[in-house]
Amino acid sequence: MQAGLNAPVPGGLLLGDVVGGYGVAQACLGVASAWDWDVRETTVAIQGIGTMGGGAAWYLHEAGMKVVAVADAAGTLYAPEGLDVPALLELRDRFGEVDRTRLPDGVRVLPRDSVVGIDADIFVPAAISYALRPDNENLVKAKVVVEAANAATTPEAEAALSARGVAVVPDFVANAGAAAWAWWLLLGEVGADPADSFLRLRTEMQAKVALLLTEWNMDRLPLRITGLRLAEANRAQRAEAALAPEGEPQLLIP
Ligand SMILES: NC(=O)c1ccc[n+]([C@@H]2O[C@H](COP(=O)([O-])OP(=O)(O)OC[C@H]3O[C@@H](n4cnc5c(N)ncnc54)[C@H](O)[C@@H]3O)[C@@H](O)[C@H]2O)c1
Repeated sequence: MQAGLNAPVPGGLLLGDVVGGYGVAQACLGVASAWDWDVRETTVAIQGIGTMGGGAAWYLHEAGMKVVAVADAAGTLYAPEGLDVPALLELRDRFGEVDRTRLPDGVRVLPRDSVVGIDADIFVPAAISYALRPDNENLVKAKVVVEAANAATTPEAEAALSARGVAVVPDFVANAGAAAWAWWLLLGEVGADPADSFLRLRTEMQAKVALLLTEWNMDRLPLRITGLRLAEANRAQRAEAALAPEGEPQLLIP
């Protein structure tokens, strides 16, 4: 277990530090795949560039998606042609704030909350709870919100976004990578090699997102409701399978 947590990954970090953000990136890539978007033409804005936001930014950039904005507690950094994510991550301090004195050329500095209304296909709130509320959800230009932070969208904002066609991939799917991975590691379902963990998480996350979006394409119900319904159906099916008698009835020998 310890070997898995401490396995080094590209970028100078440990698997345990990036796996949550990797899962968020896979949720975004799952959306792009489900909706037939060209990853290289897809843009994303990320609020928060700490553990979750930074990890998501790294892996989305690596996959070729254009990370056009990231925000930290001090403000939004914006480049419509795409930010140099590895360079920005190098400039972070231990609180996930980017050193403004060493920004690469061409990066515009905007007010902190501008990230919400950036013109991008995907918005990833990865900093604080209630980032999207009734007073600011109307600013969102993205076609989909992928919740990396817990409770990033209030229920009212989620309903309003869904009603105007903006899908919200809920936190309990999009940010579940780290928790799910810890269980896989504990149960020995993945080994210490990061490639093992990345493959499992990529497969699971993209499949879950595809399933949610198939339903969305038909009913436009908030994905949280769909996700809870699918989880309940899954639980009921497993409970039934556990109760069902195995094979032929056994003869009891007195
Ligand atoms: N770390 C995990 O494994 C994990 C797993 C699941 C969910 N989460 C959730 O994800 C969210 C972020 O967690 P983290 O571990 O990445 O935190 P973190 O402290 O590592 O990073 C937070 C980032 O958000 C920025 N930030 C803070 N306030 C901001 C604001 N108002 N506007 C814009 N940026 C702001 C910080 O500057 C920093 O870049 C939290 O809601 C957390 O509960 C984290």
